[in-house]
Amino acid sequence: MSCISGLGEDEVSSFFESSPPLKNMEEIVQKLNAFIHLNSSAGGRRRRIVCVTSGGTTVPLEQRCVRYIDNFSSGNRGAASTENFVKAGYAVIFLFRRGTCQPYSRSLPDDPFLECFKFPDNTNIQVNASHVEAVKVAVMDQQAAVAESRLLKLPFTTIYEYLQMLQLIATALKDFGPCSMFYLAAAVSDFYVPWKSMTEHKIESGSGPLDIRLAQVPKMLSILRTNWAPKAFCISFKLETDSKILIEKATKALRKYKVHAVVANELSTRKEEVVVVSSSGNVVVRCDSEKPGSIVEDNLIRLIVDRHSTYIKEFST
Ligand code: PMT
Repeated sequence: MSCISGLGEDEVSSFFESSPPLKNMEEIVQKLNAFIHLNSSAGGRRRRIVCVTSGGTTVPLEQRCVRYIDNFSSGNRGAASTENFVKAGYAVIFLFRRGTCQPYSRSLPDDPFLECFKFPDNTNIQVNASHVEAVKVAVMDQQAAVAESRLLKLPFTTIYEYLQMLQLIATALKDFGPCSMFYLAAAVSDFYVPWKSMTEHKIESGSGPLDIRLAQVPKMLSILRTNWAPKAFCISFKLETDSKILIEKATKALRKYKVHAVVANELSTRKEEVVVVSSSGNVVVRCDSEKPGSIVEDNLIRLIVDRHSTYIKEFST
């Protein structure tokens, strides 16, 4: 059996062959190509493009899905990173799990969101004074990012959709070479039920305990680095709940998947601190405690953008 960096090609092909095809593939490809085209010569020059993945993938247990296994992720990291990439001049393809946190909406109250607004009369809608600033900034920044073709949002739900869309994006970005980046913050399922062995209808609950055999999802990082986007700058993530094994696991992933850096984070402290693990050493990144409203992604994206610039420079010499 032939292998891609230790990964069976058969495993990868059988994952894709058994996946239900994307329902709106043509629409996705068309949006993607239009976005890439606009950013190929924006203002007379090619912009850098980053694909930010965000949120957790689901694993359906039934083809007409009622029940599914989910992966933890609020999407906050991906949304906050997207805002910072746009600020740094990038065009962002935001590949996100439906229903998770969105760029520019993080500072708005989501529970209950409608409390932001009031109706002084039947023809007017107003924002409550306490939320005016947050709503104004969110609306203006989001509209500017979309109007300048700096933000394309593509939603997924299942592991099948996520991996097929990631492949489409990687293939579409091939010509951007080192000016493209993959920032893989999504929490991706490691196990799934192959479509063909999945029951069509809702699993019956009256026949005792349920036995399900889960197959392993091929680690797509290898194939992304080797086949889909070998010239792109690639940042992956490592999440652990045991801080004692975090850096060791991230270092192993760096070597195994030959990504340019691994962002290591521990579940309970992920909003305050991450460690960027790369061949040039480990850097601890925190938010600025003296700056009100500072988030870890402000400093993280600054560092990643810096590393990307060096990568592009080295690539062209
Ligand atoms: O969304 P938040 O609540 O803000 O939380 C952010 C986060 C903790 C989810 C994020 O910072 C993070 O760590 N994301 C990656 C979590 C994860 O799934 O880690 P992992 O060890 O399972 O996977 C490591 C890498 O391999 C990931 O970059 C993933 O994209 C990739 N992967 C995973 C499984 C798989 N079958 N193929 C992959 O390529």
